[in-house]
Order: sequence, then C-alpha cells, then structure tokens
Amino acid sequence: MATLLHIDSSVLPVSDSASRAVADTFRTSWLQQHPDGFVIYRDLAANPASHISAAAQHAGYLSPEEHTVEQAAAFAERKELIEELEAADAVLIGAPMYNLSVPSTLKAWIDNVVLIGRTAMGAATLAGKPVIIIASRGGAYGPGTPREGYDYVQNYLRGVFEMMLGMEVEFIVPELTGAAVDPSMSELLPMYEESRYRAHDEAATRAQNLAAKLVEAV
Ligand SMILES: Cc1cc2nc3c(=O)[nH]c(=O)nc-3n(C[C@H](O)[C@H](O)[C@H](O)COP(=O)(O)O)c2cc1C
Repeated sequence: MATLLHIDSSVLPVSDSASRAVADTFRTSWLQQHPDGFVIYRDLAANPASHISAAAQHAGYLSPEEHTVEQAAAFAERKELIEELEAADAVLIGAPMYNLSVPSTLKAWIDNVVLIGRTAMGAATLAGKPVIIIASRGGAYGPGTPREGYDYVQNYLRGVFEMMLGMEVEFIVPELTGAAVDPSMSELLPMYEESRYRAHDEAATRAQNLAAKLVEAV
C-alpha cells in the first residue's frame, strides 16, 4: 500500500482553483488505479504551517536531549511536517503563482521541511521520491512569451525539490487561467481551455502511471 501526500496552497476553493481541480483529478485517478492507497491531505491555505523561528531553526541542528523547552516546542511542528513528508511514497503539490512566486504558505512549509543534515543537501531521507507539482498561473511564461524569464515558481521549486532535496520533480502547468475571469484576456480563452484540458489529461495519466509503479515497488 502506497501513501500519497497531497498538499494544496491556493486560497481559492476547488470550484475556482485550477491547481486544486487538477490535483483533485490526479488524486482521483491515483486512487482509481490503487484503491488500497492512502492519501494524507494538508491544506496550507486553511491550516498554514508556522513561519520558521529561531528556536525551530536552532533545534534542527541539536539532538532532542539538547533542546531547551522553547526549542522542543518549536521543533515539534517542524518534526511532524518532516516525518509526514518522509513517510510518503509520492508527493502532490498545488502551487499557484502569486506575484511571480509561490504562496507564502507554501514557502513557510518548505522552510520547515528543508533541514540540512536530514532532508537536504546530500542527506538521503527524501532522495528519489517523486513530487508532482501543479503550477497554475494566470498568464503564460513559456519560451517566446512576453513574460518569459519572470517565472519564479518552477525554477524555484525545481531548485528546492531537485537540487536541495534530491527528489524527482515533474510539473503540470495549467496556465492563462486569467482568461476565464478577465474580459481583457478573452482572445486567449481557446489557449486557456486547451491548457486546462491538457493539464487534467496529464494529471490523470501520470497519476495512473505513478500508482502502477508504486504498487509494483511495494
Ligand atoms: C495574490 C495573487 C497574485 C497573483 N499573481 C500572479 C502573477 O504574478 N502572475 C500570474 O500569471 N498570475 C498571478 N495570479 C493569478 C493566479 O496565478 C491564477 O489565478 C492561478 O490560476 C492561481 O492558481 P489557482 O487557480 O489554483 O488558485 C495571482 C493571483 C493571486 C490571488
């Protein structure tokens, strides 16, 4: 039985959120392929992780016996988030673009789970674990677009999950979602629809393939 850790961070409900909707398609397809599979769900918009504090940061480099009362209390949440990530066989993250980067709630979660010597920078607890990121965005940032080079979501998250944590990163990118709500983008509606269709299709197929691979492995 494989475990999928599913994290959402859009402030919008699933009816209005591309990342939540595509992640939902992924999760549904994953469970169809693997009905015994287990999903742990974390909604960072509803229940944000604490920002990293000095006590939680210092505690990460000390053994539990050395923790002060304040450090032990601060590290408890960090440890829970790290253990949840370590226990998962695969990770699914909804990462909408907010002002060219990720939501601050997702950044706070990352600051908690990246711990040099345990999860990051050559440490092996997460190495090789697949992470699928739904990087939704209102505009388009691909090669040849006027905004090429201004995407700090995919580049940043690849750096964190691939370079720092050694995980296997895949992106699914529903883009031009602004066309659905902004009349000035109406000529982009067909491209938005195509992107949405492709994102859901990719999510269903990749979830199926991943579940089949994980079931074989366990
Ligand atoms: C606070 C905020 C900032 C945003 N900044 C950008 C941006 O810089 N570039 C962009 O293309 N879209 C931006 N958007 C639009 C979102 O990326 C878009 O609505 C996307 O679909 C969000 O993912 P979601 O549908 O899962 O909520 C922003 C939206 C919000 C709420």
